[in-house]
Amino acid sequence: MPKPHGLDNGLTNYGDRDFARFLRRSFARSMGISPGLLDKPVVGIAMTPSGFNNCHRGVPELVEAVSRGVLAAGALPRPFPTVSLGEVFLNPTSMVYRNLMAIDTEEMIGAQPMDAVVLIGGCDKTVPAQLMGAVSANRPAVQLVTGPMSTGRHRGQRLGACTDCRSFWAKYRAGTVDADEIATVEGRLSVTQGTCAVMGTASTMACLAEALGMSLPGTAAIPAVHADRLVAAEASGRAAVGLIANPITPDRIVTERSVENALRVLMALGGSTNAVVHLAAIAGRRGIRITNQRLNAISDETPVLVDLKPVGEGYMEDFHAAGGMGALLRELKPLLHLDTIDVEGRTLAERLDEPLDWVDRSVIRPFGDPVSAVGGLVALSGSLAPDGAIFKRAAATPALFESEGRAVVFTGLDDLARRIDDPDLDVRPDDVLVLQNIGPHAAGMPEAGYLPIPRKLAQAGVKDMVRISDGRMSGTAFGSIVLHVAPESAIGGPLAAVRDGDRIRLSVKEKRIDLLVEEDEIRRRLAEVVPPPALARGYKALYRRTVLQAPEGCDFDFLTAEGH
Ligand code: FES
Ligand code: MG
Repeated sequence: MPKPHGLDNGLTNYGDRDFARFLRRSFARSMGISPGLLDKPVVGIAMTPSGFNNCHRGVPELVEAVSRGVLAAGALPRPFPTVSLGEVFLNPTSMVYRNLMAIDTEEMIGAQPMDAVVLIGGCDKTVPAQLMGAVSANRPAVQLVTGPMSTGRHRGQRLGACTDCRSFWAKYRAGTVDADEIATVEGRLSVTQGTCAVMGTASTMACLAEALGMSLPGTAAIPAVHADRLVAAEASGRAAVGLIANPITPDRIVTERSVENALRVLMALGGSTNAVVHLAAIAGRRGIRITNQRLNAISDETPVLVDLKPVGEGYMEDFHAAGGMGALLRELKPLLHLDTIDVEGRTLAERLDEPLDWVDRSVIRPFGDPVSAVGGLVALSGSLAPDGAIFKRAAATPALFESEGRAVVFTGLDDLARRIDDPDLDVRPDDVLVLQNIGPHAAGMPEAGYLPIPRKLAQAGVKDMVRISDGRMSGTAFGSIVLHVAPESAIGGPLAAVRDGDRIRLSVKEKRIDLLVEEDEIRRRLAEVVPPPALARGYKALYRRTVLQAPEGCDFDFLTAEGH
């Protein structure tokens, strides 16, 4: 068994190693730590509280509980800050900063003297960033999530961020909810600490972290305010100490097989489209690539079993009470690779051998009686998206699955804002709304792919239309929306060639999205595309220069396994 290094980890040796150790211990003593504790193994705790991150309001208490677990198991806890990303407080989009947080996490795990690390994240981009960083740092690591928010109440109805934020806003736009009521609802949507209350990106990623084996079993869905969340934090601290004695590095946990398990879980959850990008980025750190064919094969074999918003009815608090990930994984067992291991060194088979006390079948359906017989997401390809696009069929209108319509094109976010509500906009309910130039290279891939229904159609009662872009949408959104079109329009993807009035055909059955324009004409139009200029300085310049497309997880080219 390799000896833990404790504070001696990564001691710089500029000639006098003993002096370096003396100096480090002396400075550690200034934090009031007794000499005996300085000899213990060290568990870092990546902490992410921020006045700009409501979802992480409970992090200080979680740090305390993790520390308790670490101390009780005989090691020294050392919390350290990293970048924190609060989804709705970042401009132009939190997605731009996921890779920054991943770099920060990787480098601070590597540079500071720790034998293992507990990563505390929750809000959408934070768990992907921490997992990307941890996989690349490859030091023993345990992911702990902040947990989902509890619901609020409004006139007898339960409300949860942020699917209900969208449905209320849509009613307000359509004129069925007035200004007074929307002001009241504002205070009833997000009523506790923790991440969005539905199966959005944060909850999906929490479940995928557990499916990968990077979080302790049964911890993904515990509500943020529940006492068991603190118990899970304490246990995560203890597990991190366990990983020092019996080192299991992330490269043994995040494997092709565990990534496939995570993808199965994503499908069965009816989970967020964003998770496809994040999982590709995490897997990419190990050189693992999820092809569109594999994604579709898994989707076609895996039923949606979890009945939560935005796809179904319930909230994350219901999922937890219903049996959570333990219950879901047992239903999926025949489809899973059971020899994958988790942060406790247990195989999935061993975990699933333990009996479950109870499952609420109205929330977590039996395999034979699913919410939907096929998985929530499909990858499309075709002349409009040669490298693929993502469609969340579970959150879409089946009547639009096989459809053809006239394109109504917006060339960017400003154009969209200017014209979408124009009463003179030439748009009909069976048109296809197209938004260009919101891909990773052009705009950092904001969640603008959920184009609003033009006001005049919304007021006429139109609830859904086919909408296409190279951007993303929020994991809490719903609608017939084609996302992540690759290559993106700004670097010459065919999406850039679409003009008002062109015909576009969507076929979910054939998994195709096609621009019905002659190939030569598409090529001629694309020759006129002018890519956005290189930026001169700073992180955004680095971003534009090195960001990969959605199928590679929008990671930076120099951070993937191939980039090493
Ligand atoms: Fe943080 Fe939704 S805003 S999870
Ligand atoms: Mg979100």
